[in-house]
Amino acid sequence: MIEIKDKKFIPFIDSSQLDERIREMGKEISENFNGKEPIIIGVLNGAFMFLSDLSKAISVSAEVSFIKISSYQGESSTGKVKQLFGLEKDIEGREVIIVEDIVDTGLSMSYLLETISEKKPKNITIVTLLHKPEALIKDIKIDYIGFSIPNKFVVGYGLDYDGLGRNLAEIYQLKTD
Ligand code: IMP
Ligand code: MG
Repeated sequence: MIEIKDKKFIPFIDSSQLDERIREMGKEISENFNGKEPIIIGVLNGAFMFLSDLSKAISVSAEVSFIKISSYQGESSTGKVKQLFGLEKDIEGREVIIVEDIVDTGLSMSYLLETISEKKPKNITIVTLLHKPEALIKDIKIDYIGFSIPNKFVVGYGLDYDGLGRNLAEIYQLKTD
């Protein structure tokens, strides 16, 4: 068990489970993008660690770029999404792969889809490490999901609790009893 601020967290997804699943996802993505040159867009801050490992598991040559948005405060979504810095790259006509740490309510992802679609990419593929199906309030088609998880707060491997815990190598779940 670990403690971050006022909360206790228990181990949930360990390094070897992450490694194995990310390798599989990378393989599938590589097969589907064979012969193409996608641009991978990581959503900061949460996706930095996942993007780093996933991009190494993708064998086609790709560009990597980032967009920064924020919506969470503490342990619940504020529902309001802000773009903190955007895409400088011209992505018109390109195959875009959005990489997220987690799709929770889906508000951030639907905002991203809108913002990125305006730049007229050829198509957009959505990849998320984690997905909380019970929390989803926006109807979004996610192309690749690492793990579908219960509607409980998680930290580590890029995900934070009030700014802390992103550096943890494994994923922990809020202890609720
Ligand atoms: P959504 O807009 O509600 O789908 O939330 C998406 C963003 O909220 C994610 O990109 C995360 O940064 C953050 N988030 C959602 N659930 C969690 C969680 O359980 N732990 C930490 N961050 C989360
Ligand atoms: Mg995020």
